[in-house]
Amino acid sequence: MEMPSIPQPTFYIFKCEQSSPPGMPKPSCVNENTRDLFNYTAQSLMKAGIMGPVQIVRTSCLGRCQMGPLMLVEPGHHMYASVSKEKIDKIIEEHILGGNPVEEYLISSQFWGEPVNLVQ
Ligand code: FES
Repeated sequence: MEMPSIPQPTFYIFKCEQSSPPGMPKPSCVNENTRDLFNYTAQSLMKAGIMGPVQIVRTSCLGRCQMGPLMLVEPGHHMYASVSKEKIDKIIEEHILGGNPVEEYLISSQFWGEPVNLVQ
């Protein structure tokens, strides 16, 4: 008897969860105003019944701290900048459920150029 396969996730959402200590001059994605965004996103995915096909992952710094809070959606290398609860609602509705990335929330191409080709 053939075992049913377990489907790959449709999307991964990588949420930067880096916080810097008080007094640190460099901004970070998590501070007292933004620390509940991971849970908010996870709860929104649960309410929509899509936790599983959509995997949310806590990450450390994604290297664009000035643009935070950041959220990277894969596949597609879609990096969302300055996310808020309102933006997360729209990202889930339009990108995750609708298949259309929310262009106006994406990080500027000035800070997110094409990847370096490592093929020799
Ligand atoms: S702290 Fe989030 S990108 Fe650096």
